[in-house]
Amino acid sequence: MEWIKNIFKGTHDDSDIPEIEELPDILPVLPLKDAVLLPGAVLPLLVTNPASAALIKELHGTGSSIVAVSMRKPHEIHPAVWDNLFSIGCMAKITKVSPGKGGELSIMIRGYRKVLLEEKTTDQPFMKARVTYLTESVEPDTQVYALALSTRDILAQLARRSYQNLDTVLANLAKIKDPHLLLSTTTTNLPIPMDKKQQILEEDDFQTKFTFLYDSLREELDILEISSKITEKARGEINNAQREYYLRQQLKAIKKELGEAGSDADDEMEELRKEILAKELPEEVSREVTKDLKRISRMQPSSSEYVTIRTYLDWILDLPWHESSPDNLEIGNVEQILNEDHFNLKKPKKRILEYLSVKKLKQDLKGPILCFVGPPGVGKTSLGKSIARAMGRKFIRISLGGVRDEAEIRGHRRTYIGAMPGRIIGGIKSAGTVNPVFMLDEIDKLTQDIHGDPASALLEALDPEQNSHFTDHYLNVAYDLSKVFFITTANVVDTIPPALLDRMEIVEIDGYTHEDKLAIAKNYLIPKEIDANGLTGRPIDFKDEAVDHIIRHYTRESGVRNLQREIASSLRIIASEIVRGGIEDYSVDCAFVEKALGALRYLPEAKQRTTIPGVATGLAWTPFGGEILFVESALVQGKDEMILTGQMGDVMKESARLGLSIIKGMGIEIKTDHCIHIHVPAGAIPKDGPSAGVTMVTSIISLLTEKIVRNDLAMTGEITLRGVVLPVGGIKEKVLAARRAGIRSIILPKLNAKDLQDIEAYVTNDLCIHFVENIEDVLKIAFPEAASSGLEAISPPPAEEPVRDAPSLRVQ
Ligand SMILES: Nc1ncnc2c1ncn2[C@@H]1O[C@H](COP(=O)(O)OP(=O)(O)OP(=O)(O)O)[C@@H](O)[C@H]1O
Ligand SMILES: [Mg+2]
Repeated sequence: MEWIKNIFKGTHDDSDIPEIEELPDILPVLPLKDAVLLPGAVLPLLVTNPASAALIKELHGTGSSIVAVSMRKPHEIHPAVWDNLFSIGCMAKITKVSPGKGGELSIMIRGYRKVLLEEKTTDQPFMKARVTYLTESVEPDTQVYALALSTRDILAQLARRSYQNLDTVLANLAKIKDPHLLLSTTTTNLPIPMDKKQQILEEDDFQTKFTFLYDSLREELDILEISSKITEKARGEINNAQREYYLRQQLKAIKKELGEAGSDADDEMEELRKEILAKELPEEVSREVTKDLKRISRMQPSSSEYVTIRTYLDWILDLPWHESSPDNLEIGNVEQILNEDHFNLKKPKKRILEYLSVKKLKQDLKGPILCFVGPPGVGKTSLGKSIARAMGRKFIRISLGGVRDEAEIRGHRRTYIGAMPGRIIGGIKSAGTVNPVFMLDEIDKLTQDIHGDPASALLEALDPEQNSHFTDHYLNVAYDLSKVFFITTANVVDTIPPALLDRMEIVEIDGYTHEDKLAIAKNYLIPKEIDANGLTGRPIDFKDEAVDHIIRHYTRESGVRNLQREIASSLRIIASEIVRGGIEDYSVDCAFVEKALGALRYLPEAKQRTTIPGVATGLAWTPFGGEILFVESALVQGKDEMILTGQMGDVMKESARLGLSIIKGMGIEIKTDHCIHIHVPAGAIPKDGPSAGVTMVTSIISLLTEKIVRNDLAMTGEITLRGVVLPVGGIKEKVLAARRAGIRSIILPKLNAKDLQDIEAYVTNDLCIHFVENIEDVLKIAFPEAASSGLEAISPPPAEEPVRDAPSLRVQ
């Protein structure tokens, strides 16, 4: 750049331009490549063309003039072609020549006059041309001064912006006061477009020349401004992106240093976000989750809140929101599976088939809430499992026994440490579908305490009207339970909270008869246990007599759980014998059972018990099914009205007192200073209810009249003060219990006759059932000899005789 600075040496001073004495007509032509020389300006050049070099060498030092003229197409055609030259050039003188680095010449020429190249006169040794000197308007006016001022201003601005790295040059140009010099030097030396330069040279009017220059500079400045703006913006953008990247890197480094979330945590977040997106959550849930996701991404993974939210998000992700299993709506198929798993149980099976039939017709059917009620071991739970298998749904069971806290059903709010969803949501999660068969076992064993009422939470889950929006405290968003098939089970209906009971459809599952049990054992339990004990494929012969023996002497139950257990015990003996050293006989008979299970556990005791006066056999209903119970009376010394033992409840005590009053009303006297003691054995078991009324009266009369009650008879019925026998509940279970105990005659209230319709004929066929209306009917059946030998036989003893010696009964 040194050379360009030299241009300005002396250019500030107008007088510095030497005058020219002669203006020759023919001038040697110096073609300019990418340059235009204006009169008054100095142009440094590097001469590479041999012809031009020859010209310079020849003329240098002679003071001769040349004409410097620009080429039209500097790169296309050889410079020496006449036609490739503009017709206007500038007469110039060579002021300096010095050898360049690569052997070329570095020269400086100064322009003097604008010339028109008329014709080429020669080409050898270098081109010469005839020229005409052109005159221009040279007087600068105010306009030109103004233009010069603005031009200088622009030059200064370009200098400030380091236009083409020419800041010093531009600064010097901006100092030139003379408009001519300013115009020529600037045009010649600044890299404005060539055609503009030539235009300025060719133009005659000085003001127009200046306007051209000014416009060109202005344009350069504009372009410069715009491009610097663009550069600035791009730089800004890059800077922002870089800044963020840089900060993130730093953050990562800092976090790593602190042992907090590194890149793994970021990946985890990303993964979580993707999983949540893929889950297609309902809108409300998605909103809640997104909020939590945002919060968690700003937390340290070691913080307890992070863990809490993370656990919550995992729950949401693990829960099924849309996934459901297709229902097997092939009714025949379903029925076959249900029968495969369970014997009998017609009522519940029928109900399931009805449900599926309706479901087949109506797609959006809400799940019903069935409640299987029955004694233990009758297959309530296993039926639920079988229903799920038959329908092709997932099966989930939760036990409500002992649940007394609402939170167990509905979860704890997330604000509590260690909060978890309740059992319902927990169950759904493990099912993995929105439509499982959901069994709520032992709903009658729900309790309630200060922590709220679990029943009310269940109510929301079970009510088909509101369970599409079940809210678990932990989830805090509504969950749709309407597709769940809820089945609840209970042993008794009485303890089920009434509001819950109201929403359920009760399906009673009764206890099994002896014959049922035989069939169940043979067709279901034995094959099941053979399999469970690893005896599949062995020729096991479990004889019917053995099953019968177990049912009669080793179990006393309504269901088949103990039966199953005893069968299993017997089979285990076989298994252990096989392992010990081989056995040949795989048959299980009565002797084998006795050997395997030990001494007989149950013997028909009714006959033995009722061998003395004062004992009567009653029939009771308990949550475990029907039972026989003995009412024992004795006369003891004492002033009390009566003594009652055997954990009787209030109602039972009342019916005992009532019985006594009836007897007194019959005119039967009790020995002075004596009272009646009534005891109901199995003293540890609480008993209650009015249905032992007839049994108590019978027992007391037997005691006072010293007549023994028929030993093959059992009875049930409530009694009024006037001796009328009222109907009672649990008839089927009671009849089955009597039959189990080997009793063949049963006294039932007449108004219970309709209940026998529920019992299969084969059960009642071999029983003698007496329907009674009042206590007289009972006594006639209980004391047949007395009845057949007339009323006197049981008339009260004479007043002076002790009651015990001559018992008699006056029936009113
Ligand atoms: N009708 C039946 N056919 C075949 N097996 C049966 C039948 N009833 C009960 N069982 C079998 O008896 C066993 C006990 O049944 P389960 O556990 O379902 O009784 P539960 O009614 O739920 O009793 P709990 O009230 O005590 O819960 C199961 O192995 C079951 O398969
Ligand atoms: Mg059960």
